[in-house]
Amino acid sequence: MEVTYSDRIPNNVGLHDNRRLQRALEAWQPRYLDWWHEMGPESFDAAHVYLRTATDVGRGGWANFGWVRLPEYRWGIFLADPEPDRRVGFGEHRDDPAWQEVPGEYRNQLRRLIVVQGDTEPASVEQQRRLGQTCPSLYDLRNLFQVNVEEGRHLWAMVYLLDAHFGRDGREEAEALLERHAGDADRPRILAAFNEPTTDWLSFFMFTHFTDRDGRFQLEALSESGFDPLARTCQFMLREEAHHMFVGTTGVGRVVQRSCELMRQADTDDLRQQGGVSLQLLQKYINFHFSVSIDLFGGETSSNAASYFSSGLKGRFHERQRVDDHRLLEATYPVTELGADGLRQVEVPALTAINEGLRDDYIANCQKGLDRWNAIIAEQGIATRLTLPHRAFHRSIGIFAGQPITPDGRVVSPEAWAAARDGWLPSDADRAYVHSLMQPVLEPGRIAGWIAPPAAGIDDRPVDFEYVRL
Ligand SMILES: [Fe+2]
Ligand SMILES: [Fe+2]
Repeated sequence: MEVTYSDRIPNNVGLHDNRRLQRALEAWQPRYLDWWHEMGPESFDAAHVYLRTATDVGRGGWANFGWVRLPEYRWGIFLADPEPDRRVGFGEHRDDPAWQEVPGEYRNQLRRLIVVQGDTEPASVEQQRRLGQTCPSLYDLRNLFQVNVEEGRHLWAMVYLLDAHFGRDGREEAEALLERHAGDADRPRILAAFNEPTTDWLSFFMFTHFTDRDGRFQLEALSESGFDPLARTCQFMLREEAHHMFVGTTGVGRVVQRSCELMRQADTDDLRQQGGVSLQLLQKYINFHFSVSIDLFGGETSSNAASYFSSGLKGRFHERQRVDDHRLLEATYPVTELGADGLRQVEVPALTAINEGLRDDYIANCQKGLDRWNAIIAEQGIATRLTLPHRAFHRSIGIFAGQPITPDGRVVSPEAWAAARDGWLPSDADRAYVHSLMQPVLEPGRIAGWIAPPAAGIDDRPVDFEYVRL
């Protein structure tokens, strides 16, 4: 399908030929722009930002770089190219032709999946809206805005599905996606991790490494969906998502790099005098962001997750590459639970453990970031290593919710846990210190003292390129 960029809404879904859908989306568009104006990035409306914009889903077409003012970004609707004769890949309907229309029996479940995913996209823009004011460099400021406009586009992607396939209640859900706001007392976002403001850049890098990665795994699972428009939408979103995690993983890596340099120069582990982030403080931020992000996968065993899978709506990570029967009626899966003598593994029916399986795949993927960060530390000849906390640590959802379990997976008394808390998680003083480091650096080529410069620029531009013209 050709992309029509002259349209009010750039798209490769043939909007021109569907007047009803076009009218619905054109009616929603001004409300989206109002939302962006009120809840999107603060203070930079006039700046020209060096951004990529998708103009086509094919190779080379989806990453066109150029100067854009944020309010004028062209948010479009793009689906990955269809796969001829695509079949449902798992569950009860395995091998049936993939659905091009919503199956009536799964309408509510499917709408819920799309709404929950859609809700996270604008939420993260809201959470990050003040970050630009304390950016460590123009390079980082540009990356923040790239992530923000693409999360906005991901909202468009979900609203397209709602408007195209769910009629009147789809339109109502599309409105509600602009009415809930991160942290709003009356109308909060659906998932807890998307209601906390992201107030400093260390949290932003942790968020894009850990929480965007949850988004990636949800999209991976939805990209397997038997509902073909959802699968194709998510396939294309995943391409954009990769950059968000790059921002997070390299961002934390640059903080690690700078911390190691400061440790060697000053011969100390505590970098407060040097204006750096100690490795111990980084570990606390890792513990926090990892634990709130794994909550997003839901309970260890879940009948909802089982039914999403059996119905063919939401698969497993890399479903197609797996060698099993893709139905899981007989299979079991190991799940950690809290027994009388501490943590232990039990086998449960695999269908009920779909969430836990996705969480396992996610954790393995998170660990790769830790390995990269530890390689940076090792290169500097420093013995400390960063680790992921145990999955049972600091949980709010599932069987470990509220349990006094340490980062290394020991069950302790609630009193002992509370007494040790500030050694494991950022304390108020830690957060205040990190905030004190957040002074804006807006000259091209300059960078804040708590983070190392990136190894390379964006789109083959030099690191000192003026990525944002103020
Ligand atoms: Fe997204
Ligand atoms: Fe993202």
